[in-house]
Amino acid sequence: MKALIVCTSVSHGNTRRIADAMGRALRARVVDPGQVDPEELSGFDLVGFGSGIYLRRFHPRLRRFVRALPADGHGRAFVFATSGLPGVPFRPLERALGQKGFRVDGAFSCRAFDTFLPFRLVGGLHKGLPGPADLDAAHAFAERLARRSTKA
Ligand SMILES: Cc1cc2nc3c(=O)[nH]c(=O)nc-3n(C[C@H](O)[C@H](O)[C@H](O)COP(=O)(O)O)c2cc1C
Repeated sequence: MKALIVCTSVSHGNTRRIADAMGRALRARVVDPGQVDPEELSGFDLVGFGSGIYLRRFHPRLRRFVRALPADGHGRAFVFATSGLPGVPFRPLERALGQKGFRVDGAFSCRAFDTFLPFRLVGGLHKGLPGPADLDAAHAFAERLARRSTKA
């Protein structure tokens, strides 16, 4: 199975650490949206899309990248995020990927270091996260996706 992970991680590298753990499980390259041609994605069986959450949305660079994808039927996708607060708004990204012909097959999120005001005033929220347990959970999530693909 050929997998790729597209990740925007601008604040503290939180989401990148999660993406790297998933990438190890899937033997997948992790790239920023600026490092991959949208046309290339149809060559992958599984593509992950993730970022931190900014004002209740995925990062604009990731959303712009998804909008630029050709709508000509891709393979499977999964979505992931790190955020300060629970309740990650996955639906709009999942819907946008569905419109591009992806079958979205899983979502992963965890809490991570957050320095958005007002948390910055108190040194930030969740210092030290994502931690080893989050990285293990991300790795296990990706392994489950890989196993599902070999059964299909
Ligand atoms: C300007 C700003 C806005 C944010 N907005 C939210 C938000 O709406 N909801 C939330 O749960 N976390 C929010 N966060 C926290 C980030 O989602 C969190 O720190 C994330 O792990 C950053 O990922 P990154 O280091 O990969 O960029 C915000 C952080 C910043 C700096």
